[in-house]
Amino acid sequence: MSSLIVEVKNLVKQYAPPDGITAVNDISFNIQRGEIFSLLGPNGAGKTTTISMMSCLLKPTGGTLLVNGHSVTDEAKKVKQVIGVVPQEIALYPAISAQENLAFWGKMYGLRGTKLQERIQAVLKIAGLTDRAKDKVETFSGGMKRRINIAVGLLHEPQLLFMDEPTVGIDPQSRRRILDTVKELNAQGLTVVYTTHYMEEAEELSDRIGIIDHGKLIGLGTQDALTEMVGKYDIIAIEYDGLADAETLVESLTAVSTVHQAVIENGKLLAEVNEAASSLPSILTWAEKAELRLKGIEIKEPNLEAVFLHLTGRALRD
Ligand SMILES: Nc1ncnc2c1ncn2[C@@H]1O[C@H](COP(=O)(O)OP(=O)(O)O)[C@@H](O)[C@H]1O
Ligand SMILES: [Mg+2]
Repeated sequence: MSSLIVEVKNLVKQYAPPDGITAVNDISFNIQRGEIFSLLGPNGAGKTTTISMMSCLLKPTGGTLLVNGHSVTDEAKKVKQVIGVVPQEIALYPAISAQENLAFWGKMYGLRGTKLQERIQAVLKIAGLTDRAKDKVETFSGGMKRRINIAVGLLHEPQLLFMDEPTVGIDPQSRRRILDTVKELNAQGLTVVYTTHYMEEAEELSDRIGIIDHGKLIGLGTQDALTEMVGKYDIIAIEYDGLADAETLVESLTAVSTVHQAVIENGKLLAEVNEAASSLPSILTWAEKAELRLKGIEIKEPNLEAVFLHLTGRALRD
């Protein structure tokens, strides 16, 4: 058995060819058996398109894509046996109970009798919803629905689980629970492919991260390897009060000679510089000229945000 569970080579997806958008544009990477691999990128980057092709929901326009050694286009049946899919959109019947939803999906996967009952109990436990098994799904919070969605993906004991932004728009407790569940399942041997636009989630979960932007894979590696790429730079975060508009500030800050790139993120200005200590004076002079009232200046260790800024000149959350 190969140590690679996913092999992606020159993968392309163009919607509505020949004139439609190329959502995934010639990307290549492999996923190791047993790892948590995250695809990190902003909205519209091509994460759902990529993960949908890996999980046989969408046909590639070009390239090759093997899961467990089998082609997703020619041997989809074999691929589907080993994968579980947790899509971004929740596919549950609101008017029936959690348990009945799971029974419905379990039968779709070919589970029957005691095996089906065993698996339903097992996945309810993983989702932390055993005590709500008999309640109608329409009475569940968004986070609980997500957790049932994950339970569905685990019913047939997949080796590889695809999760597309499973924590978007849910309460903090459910989010925490989902992240912990991913780690637990992985510790028991499940390989996980996880997409997110939240840098903190990619940082917490991943063995390796692929950074995707405009359909291109622009960075790939462990978090350490990725941040080493920008390790020679520092990030200065500036908190301020002022009336100037953000775009003008970014433009004039970028023009400071010690600053490589600048962006606004969550109301703070971030500047990528060679060395924080030696560029601070010029940044303070700039702030005075721009008539900003500084509320705080922080020198940040390079993180994935810095990597994204370095690679694209934009903030991840733009
Ligand atoms: N069914 C579709 N038809 C046409 N364009 C699409 C379709 N689905 C997604 N797109 C476009 O493809 C690009 C990538 O989308 P998507 O893969 O959903 O990104 P992400 O999941 O990273 O937000 C976006 O520009 C999006 O508008
Ligand atoms: Mg998406």
